[in-house]
Amino acid sequence: MTSKLKTIGVVGAGQMGAGIAQVCAAAGFTTLLSDKDAASLKRGADFIATTLSKSVKKGNLAAEASAATLKRIRSVRDLNELAGADLVIEAVVENFDIKAGLFKELDRVLPPHALIASNTSSISVTKMAAATSRPDRFIGVHFMNPVPVMALVELIKGLQTSNETFVTISEFVKVLGKTSVLAIDSPGFIVNRILVPMVNEAIYLLQEGVKAEDIDTAMKLGTNQPMGPLTLADFVGLDTLLYILQVLHRELGEDKYRPCPLLVKYVEAGWFGKKTGRGFYTYSR
Ligand code: CAA
Repeated sequence: MTSKLKTIGVVGAGQMGAGIAQVCAAAGFTTLLSDKDAASLKRGADFIATTLSKSVKKGNLAAEASAATLKRIRSVRDLNELAGADLVIEAVVENFDIKAGLFKELDRVLPPHALIASNTSSISVTKMAAATSRPDRFIGVHFMNPVPVMALVELIKGLQTSNETFVTISEFVKVLGKTSVLAIDSPGFIVNRILVPMVNEAIYLLQEGVKAEDIDTAMKLGTNQPMGPLTLADFVGLDTLLYILQVLHRELGEDKYRPCPLLVKYVEAGWFGKKTGRGFYTYSR
């Protein structure tokens, strides 16, 4: 399987963007990792280097393959440097206005044939596509965290996404070594629509007095999940989780998506999980 895409831009060098850049480069694509914040860009590039070097040390990756992957990634601050990209994958903060502003810029910078994809976990793809002058060449491509490890990518067609765009992106995802599923353009798509209410329910149980460790052990050993729901919540980020629940609650309009008050409190306290050192568990940083 080959791809007609050659150069991939990834905007946003957080944990998702860095992971996406890593898998694109590992699959042989020239990869431009972009972030307007110099510190985030450096953190993202360093994270990729560390992840690859850990895999080499464990004997899971050849040193040459790691070096070749790193060589294919270039960090860029200025969006104008994405002018040669055939596809840009957006992985910035889950905020429609910020994303729409970025898409307008990309529209200006990118060549007409270039595709734009969003790694959104919950925002309407149709609405984001409409913020560009190329809604037929716009698609939702939702990777799972941690991107280098997780085999799934959800593809989401907006109302105006062309079949050609869908086919090109489906082939691209195969080249990345991932399996894609086609979700509908509805809040939470498939994975988060099912996963996030489950995690919310676990937080209700915690609020009602069940110990965090018991909830996680129950779900790990009782349903063979690799992480218990509260560990997973800390891993994904409680702020992200709350945001997704709010979107599900608001847009699907059902009480079953109401964010647990304890989750709201934790986010208000700045306890976002692993990334801030404290969530349902504490982490040394
Ligand atoms: N980034 C990159 N690579 C990572 C990583 C990270 N954050 N964490 C682990 N890895 C890699 C390791 O480097 C290692 O790679 P090698 O085998 O090449 O050395 C491999 O993953 C296994 O890591 P570990 O042995 O350290 O850890 P583990 O076996 O305990 O697995 C895990 C860790 C893969 C995260 C596993 O616990 C797991 O699958 N957890 C569930 C993850 C999950 O459900 N993700 C979906 C979240 S929902 C989502 O993403 C959607 C959304 O919009 C919120």
